[in-house]
Amino acid sequence: MATYRICLIEGDGIGHEVIPATRRVLEAAGFDAEYVHAEAGYEYFLDHGTSVPQATYDAVENTHATLFGAATSPTGEKPKGFSGAIRHLRQKYNLYANVRPTKTRPVPGTYENVDLVIVRENTQGLYVEQERRYGDVAIADTVITGEASRRIGAYAANLAMQRDKRLTVVHKANVLPVTQGLFLSTIMDHCKTVEGLNTSTMIVDNAAMQLVRNPRQFDVLVMTNMFGDILSDLAAGLVGGLGIAASGNVGDKFGIFESVHGSAPDIAGQGVSNPTATILAAVIMLDHLGDHATARRLDAAVNKVLAEGPRTRDLGGTAGTKDFTDAVIAAL
Ligand code: NAI
Ligand code: MG
Repeated sequence: MATYRICLIEGDGIGHEVIPATRRVLEAAGFDAEYVHAEAGYEYFLDHGTSVPQATYDAVENTHATLFGAATSPTGEKPKGFSGAIRHLRQKYNLYANVRPTKTRPVPGTYENVDLVIVRENTQGLYVEQERRYGDVAIADTVITGEASRRIGAYAANLAMQRDKRLTVVHKANVLPVTQGLFLSTIMDHCKTVEGLNTSTMIVDNAAMQLVRNPRQFDVLVMTNMFGDILSDLAAGLVGGLGIAASGNVGDKFGIFESVHGSAPDIAGQGVSNPTATILAAVIMLDHLGDHATARRLDAAVNKVLAEGPRTRDLGGTAGTKDFTDAVIAAL
């Protein structure tokens, strides 16, 4: 029996390319796992009327971790009965921490010496999806609880203590003193109890500017759901873009690891997608599972190929998904 059981969900679009590529790399790295393939996403919804079938819940619950490709969420009015697969899984399994590291990789024309982690609250804020419309007026609720704020604040503080011991709480409590104010004050209260932690606060619009001007000033940042969604893409852009940005959705019991990018319908099916983001999501997964040795080897192999090529189109090269994956396997 293998040490680990891993659930693989390709999802939609380039998920069908980057997940098989990542599985090949994990197998070549000697990661001792058996794989359970499961379905979810918009394509599955169109065929079956649900975006996440029961068999997928079973697979997530009966494995040690899940690696997720990408899922499409159609823009505009949602088809009846549709809910986005990844948002659904995050809510169902209470994967309250969305952990998005941004680290400089050997990619030309990107920021040097960046090494920060955005910790995004993953279950509430504007993403509770409570919207309604009264004629010409549209309203969205944002939900913040002290309990969830404490939980994400504690997660971020703990992570910062394992790194450079610096935490920035990003907020907009100047304009939203009730909701953002609760998030901010709850986390600041928690941080006072963490000995040795340097905590600072920053208003989100300034944080966006500071990330572009001097990202090296940051270690760990914590923020509510939508701010984290936006600023983590911004941070990804500093070091090479969505093709290399990875994340973990972590709760007390389960973990689902995925790229930051979506299903990329503009390039799906062409075999040109960059699998780095999903391979690096697997690195986060390996660390989460405690297989740090394989994680470091994979990370080093990716860096070697990013430095020496071949590179995929999004990073200015001409390699396809397969060429890049072959090169990572050779670098192992
Ligand atoms: P996207 O991330 O799919 O694509 C944005 C741009 O980056 C596109 O030009 C795409 O070609 C490029 N890109 C993304 N990943 C790449 C990769 N691995 N290699 C090379 N190029 C890559 O975002 P977009 O277009 O805004 O959304 C497409 C769909 O994905 C939407 O339905 C959206 O709701 C969904 N989405 C899903 C996410 C998830 O599953 N967690 C996250 C973001 C978007
Ligand atoms: Mg996003």
